[in-house]
Amino acid sequence: MINPAALSNIISEQQFIQTLQNSGQGHLFMDWAPAGTDDAEKAAFFETLTRVDNAYPGGVVGYISNARKLLSEAKDEKNPFEGFVPEQPAVVDLTQFDDAYDRYEAVGIAHASKTAFVLVAGGLGERLGYSDIKPNIPVEVTENTSYIAHYAQSILAIEARFPSPGLVPFVIMTSGDTNDKTVATLETNQYFGLKKEQVHIVKQELVPAISDSEGRLALAGNYQLALKPHGHGDIHMLMHTSGLAARLFEQGIEHFLLLQDTNGQVFNAAPAAIGVSVEHGFDFNSLAVNRVPGEAVGALAKLVSTEKELTLNVEYNQLDPLLRATVSPDGDQPNEQGHSMFPGNINILVVRMESYVKILERTQGIVAEFVNPKYADETKTSFKKPTRLETLMQDLPKLFGPDEKAGVSIFDRRWCFSPNKNNIIDAAAKQTAGTPPESATSAESDFYLAGRMRLKAAGVSVVEASTELMYGVELARGPRVLLRPSFAITLKDVREKISGGAISEEATLILDGEGVRLENITLAGRSALVIHACPGANVLVKDRTIQNAGFEIVKLTAAELADPNTPEHLQIRGYRIENRAAEIHTFDQPGDYTI
Ligand code: UTP
Repeated sequence: MINPAALSNIISEQQFIQTLQNSGQGHLFMDWAPAGTDDAEKAAFFETLTRVDNAYPGGVVGYISNARKLLSEAKDEKNPFEGFVPEQPAVVDLTQFDDAYDRYEAVGIAHASKTAFVLVAGGLGERLGYSDIKPNIPVEVTENTSYIAHYAQSILAIEARFPSPGLVPFVIMTSGDTNDKTVATLETNQYFGLKKEQVHIVKQELVPAISDSEGRLALAGNYQLALKPHGHGDIHMLMHTSGLAARLFEQGIEHFLLLQDTNGQVFNAAPAAIGVSVEHGFDFNSLAVNRVPGEAVGALAKLVSTEKELTLNVEYNQLDPLLRATVSPDGDQPNEQGHSMFPGNINILVVRMESYVKILERTQGIVAEFVNPKYADETKTSFKKPTRLETLMQDLPKLFGPDEKAGVSIFDRRWCFSPNKNNIIDAAAKQTAGTPPESATSAESDFYLAGRMRLKAAGVSVVEASTELMYGVELARGPRVLLRPSFAITLKDVREKISGGAISEEATLILDGEGVRLENITLAGRSALVIHACPGANVLVKDRTIQNAGFEIVKLTAAELADPNTPEHLQIRGYRIENRAAEIHTFDQPGDYTI
């Protein structure tokens, strides 16, 4: 006798097969062996189908129907920008540390208790080729802080500035490739000081690959559905299907900031960017950098038609033809400063919750999917290899109506964006070609640079050391300055805590702890001063010239670089940093101290 659960399973599988056959997917089951043969493989196939069906709003059938529509448009070469004319978007310029910058930072910090942070960390990182998940890579190797630790420290430092105790929600999107390691990292490190209940993990699933213009799903083998990544726009779908967006909104969260897995600079710009969103009432605020015409980075443009106006990301290879076909026969042209009037999108995005939740409800979280098939021949029916629907997080404004407002905030590039995306060889090639190498070396170099920028803003005299090529990628030798989030989140914090003094060449300064103060401190040569102070420890360092052998950057030899025993986080940069005789103070008890 068949047990009732097994029977109901068989019936629902039969119904599922029927539904898929009705959707033109009969081929999936064509080569199946008779009942009673290959049962385990068939069950695994159903398990995959069911997972995919549950993950996608509208299920597999909805996915096929969306695919058919988009594939038909692709076949007809429908121009998505038909009827639109590009114009310069309205921008808020934050490239200078002026009074306006301070004001936006103050507004952003005052709003922090109504803000969440959302990290998209489901990417494979194929270009980097690192064996661990990217958030575990150290952003700097003086003290070896990983990206995830830095993000958590930044969130904790923001919470420490709340008028009354509270938690900043931290959403992390993982994928099948990154989920288990991300969870293990958080567990092993006690959530880096965050409370487990403030960290929300959502996991993206792969979507079915499609083998032709009819939307037939591709097989990777008998009983095996071919699957592919859907893209980082999945965050919107997951914020909806998990109910997180609506829940956070109900809890009083008004904005969230989207960040990537390896951008150590993001919290430098976060307070001001949030301030801009609040002050200008932006539903979507794209952080941007100046770009030169033709630069291979998405461009932010205002597109105007007779019916609507949208400020959004246009791929650089679509922008130029659009300009030539409309307002600028010469394409994208530089202004007096050499910049395009269409700034570069860096995918740090501040989103307003109220309009977001409404859009998610309307779209079920499916945000501006697109398809990019490579056709096998001019009949445009089959593809060279299976394709899939994709979605990008920056495309949310494509769904905006007249009531939603999208804006652009331009920051100094290295202050806000210096990701670690490329392996050491590709990074060197990019450096040679004059494009940002975006590697472990450039990211670490810029991480210290941000510290120097803060010191300069506080009036400290900073003498820069020379830069050198480290296996082909530019590295500034110093001064290497790490003002930890616990010490400073805004420029105002730095101005209040550091007065006078100088730092030069290859010196290192690391300040960690809310209560640390420096008055008239000079670090010369390669000297290093490191202070770690726990909450409640007030540490004053006054009128001193620090003299010691500090930390030294040591280039790896070619043999060390190739040696499998060399830690991978050093292999991706080509150097290590050694402590020669740094002055290090640790205060783990509250109290008042003078050094
Ligand atoms: P990247 O451009 O860095 O792509 O993604 P990637 O897939 O991680 O790396 P490559 O292209 O294989 O070298 C930008 C951000 O989007 C996340 C990444 O983790 C990164 O933070 N991402 C990307 C996702 O969360 N999911 C995806 O499907 C793709």
